[in-house]
Amino acid sequence: MNIISTITLSKTIHKDINASIIPVLLTKLKTKTLFEYVSRFIPIPKHYNTLLNTIEDNMKENNLGMANLTIEYNNINNINNNNSNSIINNTKKTKKSKQIKSKQIKSKQTKSKHTKSKHTKSKHTKSKHTKQINTIHQLFIIPINDLSYNKKDDSELLELARVSGNAMFNRLKNNKIVKVNIIDTLDTISNETTYIEAIMEGLLLSSYRFLTYKTNNSLTKKKDTFEIKKIHLVLPSYKRDIHKDSIIDKLQKLINQIKSVFLTRDLINEPANATKINLFISTVKNYIKENNIPIKLKVLDKDDLEKLKMGLILGVGKASLKENEPKIMILEYDGIDSKNKKNSPEYVLLGKGITFDTGGTNLKRGRSLIEMKTDMSGAAVVASFLLGYAMNKGSKNIYAMCPLVENNIGSGAIKPSDVLTSYSGKTVEITNTDAEGRLILADVLSYVSTTYPKSTIIDFATLTGQQEQLSCKMFSNILSSNSESEVKTLIEKGKHINEALVELPMMDKHLSKLKSYVADIRNASFSCSADIIMSSLFMKQFINKNTKWIHIDIAGQSYKIDNIIKYASPEASGVGVRLLFAYFE
Ligand code: BES
Ligand code: ZN
Ligand code: ZN
Repeated sequence: MNIISTITLSKTIHKDINASIIPVLLTKLKTKTLFEYVSRFIPIPKHYNTLLNTIEDNMKENNLGMANLTIEYNNINNINNNNSNSIINNTKKTKKSKQIKSKQIKSKQTKSKHTKSKHTKSKHTKSKHTKQINTIHQLFIIPINDLSYNKKDDSELLELARVSGNAMFNRLKNNKIVKVNIIDTLDTISNETTYIEAIMEGLLLSSYRFLTYKTNNSLTKKKDTFEIKKIHLVLPSYKRDIHKDSIIDKLQKLINQIKSVFLTRDLINEPANATKINLFISTVKNYIKENNIPIKLKVLDKDDLEKLKMGLILGVGKASLKENEPKIMILEYDGIDSKNKKNSPEYVLLGKGITFDTGGTNLKRGRSLIEMKTDMSGAAVVASFLLGYAMNKGSKNIYAMCPLVENNIGSGAIKPSDVLTSYSGKTVEITNTDAEGRLILADVLSYVSTTYPKSTIIDFATLTGQQEQLSCKMFSNILSSNSESEVKTLIEKGKHINEALVELPMMDKHLSKLKSYVADIRNASFSCSADIIMSSLFMKQFINKNTKWIHIDIAGQSYKIDNIIKYASPEASGVGVRLLFAYFE
């Protein structure tokens, strides 16, 4: 999916774009009226003063609400504010600009009772001047409650900026506006572009849609095809000494990151009957080719897995048809730091890739089954991240490994009480076939910790239903061994990008609950219901003692969190991808 065709930058609004969005910091209005504030960026005829004051009062009273003003000018050329130099589009100064006349005002405000201002009903309707009016400028005012403004490294205001980006997208979509000026009023103290980037992030993340299976008969198709064509960023604080290229470079990197989030969402949203294992691999292959990405892709098929004796992965995949046989996809990226070339990877990322989790013989029931096409979210997250990291020319050597398996029912399926032999040689008594994620990850964990003993391993998995219940979809859980500082950084970065992580302990004390009479260990406990901890502890038994390993259970946040994070899209959220970008930046 194409994210955005054109982004341009300058100090003034683009004269050919008849829509502008301006975020307004509420506490800044203490010293300025809304009229003064907005007129600094967009020339507004004087008689809008009263209306803007009413809007201002309303915004303060209602805290949030959005104003949509339709300003009519009698000459399109006069809209441009000519006081400052533009950086990309060098607009010429004209003297006419002060003679703007407005004839009609319409005002709309969401969440506010104000809406019908006297101006709306006023006599300034299309009168004898109608013929002179030749352009309308749509102005959207988005209030931001900036209690946390000016604090250094403020994650709260950053999130407000992302959320206002989402509000902007919805406004544009509802009004079918495809070209817009976005005015950066937030990055005014520093020469940074942090906040406008966050606005763009929220806006672009909100533009995702999944149309693969929509036909012209769809009830929603028409609405969903909305696409923004051009965004013109107005950066009033923009200084000549910050090179234009560095801002464009930042935006390009941001777009590549968002492309990775979209790829993750695409992979997750695919239905299981799309032969998801093969589709996953071919989609990644095509993405590498289309974007010319310097990544090596390898696939281990069923024969390879048999040779390697990966008995846990093979066991989980036993009841699947030939076209859904288990595979492992490996991505190898050597960072651009040439000193790293040919070294073993500093990090290996693992992702649970269950393309559908029926529960197996311990069949799942109820509504939750429909969500189980998303049980490969972890695999989608790590693969998509690495592709974007390589596109952004990341410096580290990072590999990703995704075991892709379907957990099906049927006469061939494993049963509770079966014993499987893992890649590590340890035997596992299956007490619950629905605890399959830890099984497939255990085999790749052993493989990685013996093949690359010095690498730090981070895995992402939709591992337990308990994670969803515990978090109410508000956070993911992080558990680890030998990785205190990495965990600390991940938690900090998570806060910064609003993907919260909560740490849970992994205590060896719990291990007694996994003892088996017939095998070395069992995959699930009957006597302890701390599933998030028990699943991690199970996996820990398959890695070397000194391996640095971090496990992130994303079961709650991977799917359907758009009521919590507005820009997360209705089904797959892609949670985890931005976290990895923030961690490795
Ligand atoms: N894929 C599920 C976990 C899950 C549930 C993810 C809901 C997303 C939403 C996992 O394979 C599973 O079924 N786990 C079991 C483990 C139990 C049998 C020990 C669970 O959580 O019930
Ligand atoms: Zn399961
Ligand atoms: Zn599962």
